[in-house]
Amino acid sequence: MPDHAVLFTRRLPDAVERRAARDYRLIANPDDRPLTADEIVSRSQEADAIVCCVADKMTAVVFSRLPPRVRIVASFGVGTEHLDLAAAKARGVVVTNTPEVLTDATAEVALLLLLGAARRAFEGQDMLRSGRWTGWTPTQLMGHQLSGKRLGVVGMGRIGQAMARRARGFGVEIHYTDQARLPPEKEEGAIFHPTIEELLPLSQLLSLHAPSTPETRHLLDARRLALLPRGAIVVNSARGDLVDDEALIAALRSGQVGAAGLDVFQGEPAVHPGYRTLENTFLLPHMGSATIETREAMGFRALDNVDAVLAGRAARDRVA
Ligand code: 8YV
Repeated sequence: MPDHAVLFTRRLPDAVERRAARDYRLIANPDDRPLTADEIVSRSQEADAIVCCVADKMTAVVFSRLPPRVRIVASFGVGTEHLDLAAAKARGVVVTNTPEVLTDATAEVALLLLLGAARRAFEGQDMLRSGRWTGWTPTQLMGHQLSGKRLGVVGMGRIGQAMARRARGFGVEIHYTDQARLPPEKEEGAIFHPTIEELLPLSQLLSLHAPSTPETRHLLDARRLALLPRGAIVVNSARGDLVDDEALIAALRSGQVGAAGLDVFQGEPAVHPGYRTLENTFLLPHMGSATIETREAMGFRALDNVDAVLAGRAARDRVA
């Protein structure tokens, strides 16, 4: 019988579940039903570690109710806004995330959003699937080309850099803002702007890559949307609450924003109905990291952190 038990709050890829069941007593969630706070607490009574996900709200109350035997909460994902890190520290639970392994997959989706929005992918799909396509015409569904445009990257961390690298391959000039300028080897020729106000007026294309914090909430609001060049294309693969939905929808309606590609939504899975009724939106259901390779790597990375802590070693990805 394994020494330790690990609770998975959600169903994870088979390879990850197999490894966990090989090394631990796995308390699984085969139905993959989201657990309530009470259920997380009750299912963790026999657990030494919890592997949770972005949709599990690990609040101060949840941390305070965890049994003392829980030594680590390993979150499957890089974002940490669903975890009360101060409460975890106070309670003496190690918290980890899974950085790096999802960088490429998320950057690919950011590029997909940019292309999908710029090239009117939703309208094309819709026309075809609904049987409304009556044939090729010279002026049908003309969108905007990426090559020769300027992309503004808000938040030039790992994913922002990976997105910039990909966009550069499409002939796009990269500009960015962040808290500080990056060293030249990370900039790879991207042009730094100390404030978002300086970045926006030149961003014909804009991609958000900032974490969700109280400071970044509604970072893209009506005032800042008005600073973009008219017809700019806006992409968000980071977090929904970076955007003021009412303001973006108004800008999409007026043409101030030409199109938006969105993979994340404030209050998801609820999506502001305005986005669904507009034709100049390209929408995905939070699938930035959803590749087999990446989801397995995220699970393995979470288990690496569990292994370390339960063996009395330091966790590689400790965030609290
Ligand atoms: C994950 C994400 O799918 O890692 C993150 O922060 O937003 C996504 O890529 C999600 O977090 C899984 O829990």
